[in-house]
Amino acid sequence: MTLASSPRCLLITGGAGFIGANFVHHWFQQYPNDRLVVLDALTYAGNRQSLAPLEGAANFRFVQGNICDRELVEQLLREEPIDTIAHFAAESHVDRSILGPGAFVQTNVVGTFTLLEAFRQHWYSLGQPDTYRFLHVSTDEVYGSLGPDDPPFSETTPYAPNSPYSASKAGSDHLARAYFHTYGLPTLITNCSNNYGPYHFPEKLIPLCCINILLGKALPIYGDGQNVRDWLYVQDHCRALAMVIHHGQPGETYNIGGCNEVKNLDLVQMLCDLMDELAPELPVRPSRKLITFVKDRPGHDRRYAIDATKLRTELGWEPTVTIAEGLRQTVQWFLNNRDWWQPLLSAEYQDYYQQVYASSA
Ligand code: NAD
Ligand code: DAU
Repeated sequence: MTLASSPRCLLITGGAGFIGANFVHHWFQQYPNDRLVVLDALTYAGNRQSLAPLEGAANFRFVQGNICDRELVEQLLREEPIDTIAHFAAESHVDRSILGPGAFVQTNVVGTFTLLEAFRQHWYSLGQPDTYRFLHVSTDEVYGSLGPDDPPFSETTPYAPNSPYSASKAGSDHLARAYFHTYGLPTLITNCSNNYGPYHFPEKLIPLCCINILLGKALPIYGDGQNVRDWLYVQDHCRALAMVIHHGQPGETYNIGGCNEVKNLDLVQMLCDLMDELAPELPVRPSRKLITFVKDRPGHDRRYAIDATKLRTELGWEPTVTIAEGLRQTVQWFLNNRDWWQPLLSAEYQDYYQQVYASSA
């Protein structure tokens, strides 16, 4: 049996979040005989509804809990035949990290450390089986910001994180790397660019614009709108992660990106045009009228771009969804799934919204 065909039991941390939930669905479809255990604290960003289609399945278990809770993590490692950790759980929003960095250090650094320690002891106690894997899911933001003519980030680009979020992710990447070099723990690190698609929490740029257009609210663009992000459809990311688990070399880092560099203003204009085309009724039309320039994000990175050559040449991965197709599918998903996003516009969300945008103008 190859690594790819032998059955696995995955502990998926943060599986009720945006990418985690997409990954759970992807894995379940591709490897229906594997067992999936989701550990998620259900913070503001976690949503059990995103996993609703799997509730009740015999090979699926959801556990509400914190990755910093060592006892709980050890208990799960004892109770379940977990051989793979796919670690998504994180505080993930740059704007929230500016408002309150403490939770980022706690979850992203201390939480990752807790998982690594528990998994290391478990792995040792079983005689260091060579099929075990710890996938640490990280971000391109650890590499800092690019100038307009700089080459894209590669796996050897020096780390230069600029926000409390990216600094905490960088810290967790270093821990995952050190656990391979010091203890031989089979860790794998992926650094991915901006994702978009179904189950994306409303406060991130793409869902925020989809929802605000439907509600006739302003579309806030930070600064001059010329910041560049490299957008990847979330299912392409999930496919890459599955390939890294099955075929990646322990101790290695793989960059994942869409080869889709787009300026924020252009992206928002594309979303406006798609909404105008696909939404039967809109409070304001054309939606571009809603575009509003607001105060810039402090320390706002200017440009991200990923060189995914290593993943392509070593594991054969390529993105398959173009930005035009992916945005169309995403807009349609937000149009079809009001029941998913409407409850998320809670009092807590409105509070957050006020804090970030009230002083903008
Ligand atoms: P998200 O914010 O949508 O989801 C995070 C999930 O983690 C939520 O379900 C939340 O409840 C859970 N969580 C938070 N703190 C926890 C804790 N202490 N214990 C247990 N669960 C906890 O994030 P996302 O966008 O899905 O990102 C997932 C991972 O991918 C993160 O590690 C992020 O850094 C990385 N990443 C994200 C992107 C992106 O564009 N969204 C790109 C590259 C990498
Ligand atoms: O690059 C990968 C990262 O992408 C991930 O590590 C993060 O977890 C994920 O949140 C995302 O970070 P960004 O900060 O790039 O995503 P966000 O959707 O918040 O913002 C995208 C761009 O849009 C960024 O340049 C800031 C800008 N923006 C964002 C918001 C919310 C605006 O102009 N207006 C807004 O209201």
